[in-house]
Formats: sequence, C-alpha cells, structure tokens
Amino acid sequence: MSAKLCFLVSLALLFHSTIARNSPSISTNVVNAYSTFNATRNYTHVCDPSRFSDLGLNIKHFAFCDSSLSYDVRVKDLIDRMTLNEKSAQIGDTAYGVPRIGLPKYEWWSEALHGVSNVGQSGSVASYFDDVVPGATSFPTVILTTASFNQTLWKTVGQAVSTEARAMYNLGHAGLTFWSPNINVVRDPRWGRAQETPGEDPFVVGEYAVNYVRGLQDVEGTENTADLNSRPLKVGACCKHYAAYDVDNWLGVDRYHFDARVTEQDMQETFLRPFEMCVKEGDVTSIMCSYNKVNGIPTCADPKLLKDTVRGEWNLHGYIVSDCDSIEVMLHGQKWLNDEPEDAVAQALKAGLDLDCGNFYTNFANSSVRMGKVKEAEIDNALKNLYTVLMRLGFFDGSPKFENLGKPDVCSNEHIELATEAARQGIVLLKNDAETLPLSSEKIKTIAVIGPHANATSAMIGNYAGVPCKYTSPIDGLSRFGEVKYEMGCDGVLCKNDTLIYPAMRAASKTDATILFVGLDLSVEAESLDRVDLLLPGYQSQLISQVAQVSKGPVVVVVMSAGGVDISFAKNDPNIHSIIWAGYPGEEGGHAIADVVFGRYNPGGRLPLTWHENDYVYMLPMTSMRLRPVDSLGYPGRTYKFFNGSTVYPFGYGLSYTNFTYKPVSTKNKLNIRLNQFQHCKDLEYRDGFYKPSCPAVLIDDLKCDSHNMELAIEVANTGKRDGSDVVMVYWSGPSGIAEAPIKQLVAFKRVLVKAGRSEKLKLELNGCKSFGIVDYSGSKLLPSGGGKIEIGDGLLTIPLQIDFHRGAL
Ligand SMILES: *[C@@H]1O[C@H](CO)[C@@H](O)[C@H](O)[C@H]1NC(C)=O
Ligand SMILES: *[C@@H]1O[C@H](CO)[C@@H](O)[C@H](O)[C@H]1NC(C)=O
Ligand SMILES: *[C@@H]1O[C@H](CO)[C@@H](O)[C@H](O)[C@H]1NC(C)=O
Ligand SMILES: *[C@@H]1O[C@H](CO)[C@@H](O)[C@H](O)[C@H]1NC(C)=O
Ligand SMILES: *[C@@H]1O[C@H](CO)[C@@H](O)[C@H](O)[C@H]1NC(C)=O
Ligand SMILES: *[C@@H]1O[C@H](CO)[C@@H](O)[C@H](O)[C@H]1NC(C)=O
Ligand SMILES: *[C@@H]1O[C@H](CO)[C@@H](O)[C@H](O)[C@H]1NC(C)=O
Ligand SMILES: *[C@@H]1O[C@H](CO)[C@@H](O)[C@H](O)[C@H]1NC(C)=O
Repeated sequence: MSAKLCFLVSLALLFHSTIARNSPSISTNVVNAYSTFNATRNYTHVCDPSRFSDLGLNIKHFAFCDSSLSYDVRVKDLIDRMTLNEKSAQIGDTAYGVPRIGLPKYEWWSEALHGVSNVGQSGSVASYFDDVVPGATSFPTVILTTASFNQTLWKTVGQAVSTEARAMYNLGHAGLTFWSPNINVVRDPRWGRAQETPGEDPFVVGEYAVNYVRGLQDVEGTENTADLNSRPLKVGACCKHYAAYDVDNWLGVDRYHFDARVTEQDMQETFLRPFEMCVKEGDVTSIMCSYNKVNGIPTCADPKLLKDTVRGEWNLHGYIVSDCDSIEVMLHGQKWLNDEPEDAVAQALKAGLDLDCGNFYTNFANSSVRMGKVKEAEIDNALKNLYTVLMRLGFFDGSPKFENLGKPDVCSNEHIELATEAARQGIVLLKNDAETLPLSSEKIKTIAVIGPHANATSAMIGNYAGVPCKYTSPIDGLSRFGEVKYEMGCDGVLCKNDTLIYPAMRAASKTDATILFVGLDLSVEAESLDRVDLLLPGYQSQLISQVAQVSKGPVVVVVMSAGGVDISFAKNDPNIHSIIWAGYPGEEGGHAIADVVFGRYNPGGRLPLTWHENDYVYMLPMTSMRLRPVDSLGYPGRTYKFFNGSTVYPFGYGLSYTNFTYKPVSTKNKLNIRLNQFQHCKDLEYRDGFYKPSCPAVLIDDLKCDSHNMELAIEVANTGKRDGSDVVMVYWSGPSGIAEAPIKQLVAFKRVLVKAGRSEKLKLELNGCKSFGIVDYSGSKLLPSGGGKIEIGDGLLTIPLQIDFHRGAL
C-alpha cells in the first residue's frame, strides 16, 4: 500500500489524482450499513426492511434482498438494476452506492496486519479510532510472530484480530474487508518491509498466510461449506502484493517503476508459492496485485497472473484488488503502452482486476465501455466477485453470530495477554554464554537499562499499526524484577552523537546487570525505504562494546529489528554474555522481553530470516531477482536455500534455556511409486560426475498425490532442567547432483512443549508431491527419483529417503 503518490514527481501534476481520498472528514467515508442514509437510526444490515421503508422503498421489490434466493441470483439481480454509470461507480475502494435501489456506500479499504489499523486514515480507509474506540490490540509485527513457528498461534492471533474488527464494524469504526496479510517473500536482507512479512522461506510464508487468513475469515463450523462462494465469512482477508514485489526504494530504484525480471523457475518456486497456498489452502477472499512490473508487464494488467492463475488455476473465491493507485502508476509512472486512462482501465478489467484502490475505475470505466474498449460484461463480472463477498460477510443480511460484539471485545485482557504471549513465543535467544540467562531476580537487584530502545513504545509496533490499547516498554517490563537505572546511551536509533555513551558506562559499572536495547526502527527500514547496509546505525556498536567492557554484572543485548543485523562484533565479544532478538514485539513488548530475561518464559523462537554478514550487500544488487547464484556476475545465492556462504546467524537459528535431542520412532522412508502407461519419465539435468537415474523424475501434476503420504514419527527429549518449547524443523535435500537444486528446503515444522526431563512423540505428515518436489528451469514441478535425505534440526538427525518409480506390478 502506498502512503500516497506524492513521491512520484511525475504524478504530482495530475489533474485527476486522489480527489475523493483527500476528503477531510473520514467518518463520512466510513460506510457500513449502520449509519447509511438515516443519521437518526442505526441499521445492522442493508436488507433491513425498516431501512428500505425509511428510504421510501418497498423491499419486496428487490430480489437481491430476498434471502431465500441464492447469492448468485441475488447478486445478479443487484447488478442488473444498475446503469452503466452506477456500475462503474462501485468498482473503486470507495463504492459510492446507488441510493435509488437502496444500495449503500461501502469502503473496501481497511488494514489489519497485526491488529486493526487506521493506516490510510487521511485517505479513504474505513477503520479509525476516536473516543468511542480509542485503540485496538497491537500484536507483535508479523516477522516476530512468525518466529514462534507455531501455526496455532498464527491462527489464534487472526481470530482475535477479526473479533476486534467485527466489534469495530458494529461500532461504525471499521469495514469488513481487510487488506492483510503481506506475504511477499523476503528475498533480500535489505528489504524495508521485512517486518510486515513471515520471512524468507516460501513454505513458512504460505503456512503463515493460510493460518492467519483462516483466523481472520473462518466462521467456526462453516469451514467446509460445499459451495465456497457462499461460505460465511467473519471478515475478508487479502494476500498481497502479487507478485515478485520486494524492492521499495533502493538507491533510487522504486517500486513504482521497478521491472522485476523473473524466471519461471523462481516464479513457481518462490514468488507464487505463498499466494497459491493462500488461495488454495487458506481460501482467501482477495488478492492484491502489486505496483511493479514482472517481465515488462504491470502485474495489475497481466491476464496471465490474474485471470489465468489466481482466478483460473487457483480458483479464487473472491476479488482481485489493485494496490492503491496502481492504475495511475501504470499510466503515468510506467507510461505503459502510452495509454489513455480508458485504455489502462480496459486492460486492467480484461486482465481480471475487479477493484481499483483509487478512482480510475470509478472515473473512467463507464467511458471505456462507451468507447468500445471493454465489454460491460467485464464490469458485471467484477461486481459479481465483489458483491458475493459482501453477501458472505453478512453486509446484506446481517451476521447474528457477531452482532453482539462491541467495545468490551476490543483491547480485552484476553487479547492483550495474547499479544504478550505472541511476543514471548517469537523472541529468539541468539547467544547465551555460560547460561547467563535467565537472570535471577534474587541476585539481581539493580539493572542498567540502556540504549535507544530501552524506553521503546511506538517503535515496538512497527508499521501498519493502529493505536494500541497501551504500551509496556522495556523499562516498564523490567521494573517488575528490579530497580531500573535508565540511560539512553544514544540520542535515538540513528545514534549520531557519542556523548551519551559515557553516562551509560557509568550506570553499567554500578549495577548488578546491564541490558542494552538497540536496533532499528522505521527511520531505517520501512515501506518505501530499503536499507543500504546491515549494520547497527551510528554509534550503537560503540555504545554496546564500551558499556560491555565496564559492566559490573552480566551483559545482555536485546536487538529490536525486523531485518537481520550484522552483530558479529557482539557475537564474538566475550564481555557480551547474551543476545536476544525481539523483532518489533508489539504493545506488550517490554513485558514479554522481561519475562524471557528473568526466566518466566523459556524462549523457543527461531529466526525466519538469514542474518547475513554486512559484506553480502556488496556482492549483489537488490534488483537482481534470481534466487540462485549468478556465477557469471559473481552474485551469491539468496536465502538459506541457495546461499552457501557464512552468516551471522542462519535461518532457523534459536537457542533455549534447556536442550533437546531427537530420536526417530518409526519412519516410513520409502516411496515406491508405480507408474501407469500415461505417466512418463521426465529428464532432469544433473551436474557432471553425478549418477543420473534412468527415470530421473515425474511431473507432479501427473501423480496421484493422495497416495504418496509419508509419516515421520520422532521423539523430542528435553534433557535439561527447565520446561521448554522446541521448534522441530524438517528439511529435505534432494538426490545429490541435480543441477541448480536448493541446498535444502523446509518441508515441515512443529513447535512442541516438552517438560524438563521428559519427551514427546511427534508425528509430521509429509507428502511425496508436496514435500519432495523440485521446480526445474522451465517452471515444471517434478518429483525426482532417488529420494535424497531428510534432516531434522541443523543436521541433528538425518534420515535417508528412498523414492523409486516402477513400471508394472510392484
Ligand atoms: C447508533 O450506534 C452508535 C454505536 O453503537 C451509537 O453510539 C448511537 O447512539 C446509535 N444511534 C442511534 C440513533 O441509535
Ligand atoms: C430516519 O428514521 C427515523 C426513525 O425511523 C424516521 O422518523 C425519519 O423519518 C428517517 N429520516 C429520513 C431522512 O428518512
Ligand atoms: C462516468 O462516471 C464519472 C464518475 O461518476 C462521471 O463523472 C462521468 O460523467 C461519467 N461519464 C459518462 C460519459 O457518463
Ligand atoms: C518513556 O517514554 C514515555 C513515553 O514516551 C515517557 O512518558 C516516559 O517519561 C519515559 N520514561 C523515561 C524513564 O524516560
Ligand atoms: C551531542 O550531544 C551533546 C549533549 O546533548 C551536545 O552538546 C552536542 O552538540 C551534540 N553533538 C552533535 C554533533 O550533535
Ligand atoms: C558456493 O556457491 C558459489 C556460487 O555458486 C560457488 O562458486 C562455490 O563453489 C560454492 N561453495 C561451496 C563450498 O559449495
Ligand atoms: C546443553 O548441552 C550442552 C552440551 O552438552 C551443555 O554444555 C549445556 O550446558 C546444556 N545447556 C543446558 C541449558 O542444559
Ligand atoms: C502455540 O500457540 C498456542 C496459542 O497461543 C499455545 O496455546 C501453545 O501452547 C503454543 N505451542 C507451543 C508448543 O508453545
């Protein structure tokens, strides 16, 4: 989503820029069925008979309000009543409504990335805070919640957020459609929006998407409705930004002009996979296309990406929306095809874009039809996709199940505790020499709390935040355990002044323990702001080293950041005993961090990103989209799947206050797949000197995947003295020698709680097609024969795998 297009100099002169969105009064733009058309009466839904009679209409004449009819029939009736101009006025984020037939306005744009947000409030977004709803629970940023590697938590947070969203809708303070989550893969460690995302692994990103979307959308008990186009919804979610979007503004290359050059292989394997999972497994109601071009074509005008893939192949039950003002970007930023507005609108409609966040559709779709550039039927189709979602949300008929949600359901104690719990589960312990942590509150009476984030508040909620219920800063959290001596040490995150270091050293030399809060914030990594290096800004490193040198007690460094930071100096400094990564931990961040530091919670989070050494950024430009190394240009690979060099901390890294060991219980490690006469062997390129089987691979689409399941049963033992949670990470590496194959890839993970001295049995479901596939250079998904090996943890347990293809009887 764009803050707005003011950055786009070329757009500044436009006569038809965002008029409607600069409207000063936000509440008039907020449209739910309550306040529409009659300020003195509240309605809970559009098809309230008294609402129609107040409008002087007889509801019986409007079949779209007849709940005995199917959504299909009702939506068609609604659309068929509209004139062309009325139709085109409904396909922008602000759908203007048609008073003549009792159809109210609706604002499609709300955000709920990690709590209900008011982002875009100066534009036309539907969610806002005031005296009636002063705040909503601000959960940790997604990158930290992801670090829990706990699917149940991801879904539970989604459920809490949608409860607050529904409550706010009932109070006229939010819409029903939320353009969250952001599921772009963090391909490059410099990307400014890493905080919004679930990290660098496409499978983890997809799993996060599925669970968060189901948490937001699903109405308990109706998940398996036969006709998914009538499945009830709690709120509507949206997976964005589709696709291959992850350059914001790097050394002058911005997202509005960036043309991502992407191979089919990377597209299938990395960039599309989370979106495919979001649609097919999450049954999301919306996909948002991105600003950038992919191989020369703006994503919002690409019928192959939208109509063929999202709607066709993946069978979206919902609508496709543009990022805000994408059509304007296409027209005036990218000057794509030297279009007139009507051409751009026609191209986007034909490509399958249903809703324009902006006002190009609402201003020009009608004339585009009149000029013969696009069929009216394309608009009808978009309207059908849109209004079907609103019917499923109860916009027309009400949602009795949610109508009693109100103020007490926003910022409830239960939700604030869940925000704390999400932070605890995500926090990653990176270093803990000599079991320095947890600190004992018996022994530690005074604590030096130092650094630019020591008193963090808004920095903890990152971007796409709302107004939190309250904050528990690190100082607040630690004050529960001892007497805090606070020193900033720096004049801010950018830390351009070293004069505050000395007072910090003095404090540390006199207290029983030293905790340094350092890292980044939105002035370093943000939307429209990529990083240029991976270092701590300014004098922060110096602050840490100098304070550590003179500290009387143990030294703990807490890093708040989304992207990885090259803290090799601290990792290697014996004066620094422990390091914790806390992401941007949400409104209760200080509470969760203190719980971890003083042992009320045993950390079990794992890094969802590789923490690269700073040199990495000088080896390749952000604009190179290849995941694999580009030997001819000397570019290394990207993400743990393709980067074989040294790192500060690898993907999946994280320590605990206890130790875990793994033991296989029973493992079926062979798949013998019988091929019928219609299943053919496919060639696969092997590197020189490696054995290539006679039937190297089979197309996954040709296989009967249901019959290729494999269950992995292992025992996780906690051999230490404290209860703790372990994340069991299962990687697969394919047969040796396959050209350009990933080094390894995560195929399953599960977080498990094990009591001290006990063990837990764990079953992990793997599937031949889903887990052991590779994508070849042409984008084909193949199951290679041979098998390779399964690795649990970082090589803690290795299980060889055997996959064979046979012809005829086994
Ligand atoms: C409409 O609902 C709002 C929010 O519940 C409430 O504050 C207001 O008093 C209601 N107005 C009327 C006329 O009932
Ligand atoms: C609004 O609703 C009230 C209560 O039903 C009714 O008396 C009034 O006439 C309505 N106002 C308008 C403008 O329709
Ligand atoms: C098309 O719709 C816009 C916005 O509602 C309106 O200003 C314009 O007059 C319409 N064009 C025609 C030809 O009716
Ligand atoms: C911490 O920040 C809060 C809010 O910005 C402020 O009110 C408070 O005084 C600060 N605490 C200290 C110890 O400076
Ligand atoms: C650093 O801070 C000190 C104390 O506030 C101030 O006197 C000095 O001018 C600052 N230096 C710079 C370079 O801003
Ligand atoms: C790591 O990858 C680079 C780039 O492809 C390659 O040149 C190098 O040989 C690899 N190193 C190892 C140890 O595999
Ligand atoms: C974990 O195991 C290592 C190696 O055996 C040992 O040094 C360490 O003390 C153990 N840690 C805990 C927390 O039990
Ligand atoms: C996963 O999250 C859920 C929801 O917060 C929690 O109940 C459960 O204990 C967590 N699992 C582990 C192993 O920490």
